[in-house]
Amino acid sequence: MQRFTSVHDVADPKALVALALAHQKNPWAHDSMGQRKTLGMLFLNPSLRTRVSTQLAARHLGLHTVVMNQDKDNWAIEWNDGAVMDGTKAEHVRDAAAALGQYCHILAIRAFPSLTDREADDREHVLEQFIRFAGVPVVSLESATRHPLQSLADMITMAEVAPPRRVRVALTWAPHVRALPQAVANSFAEWALAMGHELCIAHPPGYELDHRFTQGAMITSNQKEALADADFVYVKNWSAREPYGATPPVHGQWLLSDERLAPQSKVMHCLPVRRNVELIDALIDGPRSLVQRQAANRVWAAQAVLHTMLQSLEPKHHSAHV
Ligand code: CP
Repeated sequence: MQRFTSVHDVADPKALVALALAHQKNPWAHDSMGQRKTLGMLFLNPSLRTRVSTQLAARHLGLHTVVMNQDKDNWAIEWNDGAVMDGTKAEHVRDAAAALGQYCHILAIRAFPSLTDREADDREHVLEQFIRFAGVPVVSLESATRHPLQSLADMITMAEVAPPRRVRVALTWAPHVRALPQAVANSFAEWALAMGHELCIAHPPGYELDHRFTQGAMITSNQKEALADADFVYVKNWSAREPYGATPPVHGQWLLSDERLAPQSKVMHCLPVRRNVELIDALIDGPRSLVQRQAANRVWAAQAVLHTMLQSLEPKHHSAHV
């Protein structure tokens, strides 16, 4: 695997879930796999779970990690080709990514969308340039349009607790105080459908997701319809695509309550969550909640991905690689 940016980069998503569950059972079974190899992690945006779970996963595999926070550690990066760099950006992505590719055997990057330039976000302007110039395998730690490590952890979580039949999954929009990306929702939909789950997405009018990610899902503006008989209810806010990044007014009650849920429904959220804005305390802390299980499974998701990438690493001839 040369890149992990979406479910489309994975030959067999169910096999990747199975590999993650094997790592969960025996975290140190491959602890020399990454010996003498380095994973570079570049964060253009904040993170708690992604940062720590990926570092833990790397440690289980014997990989050394270098973590960089773009706003504090590195030169400001220019992302546009042909730019006359006479402003505040001190280094071009061509040079930064290529240098990091000399030092690291695998690179990982978090690059949220601008939410102002839909065309650039849709073509993953930042992530794709980084991949192009890095010259080594790249893992997305959440990009403009997707969050594949989160989605893989979500699939692992559902596999752990799913009833022995095709499961019914609801993805429901929830309120928030600010405009959030569509990446988690896009990615969850794409992975749930690839895993063969039955998916229904509920959102208020104006919050339509890009059809690229939802082909095969039922889509409704009636939350009650989506929640009926759902085994898993994934709660997430996202902003509008038209106008891009807007938060059009929403009518009706979209904050979930226990009474709205089917008896068997489990509740999922990727975290961080705005308590009592996006999801109420009673659901986050109650018996239906899978949120901390999802967070725990981030380790095994990252470990399965790094394991697969390490297996496919070519011997490197860069001078800095040992
Ligand atoms: N779910 C998730 O990606 O959490 P962080 O933003 O804290 O990494």
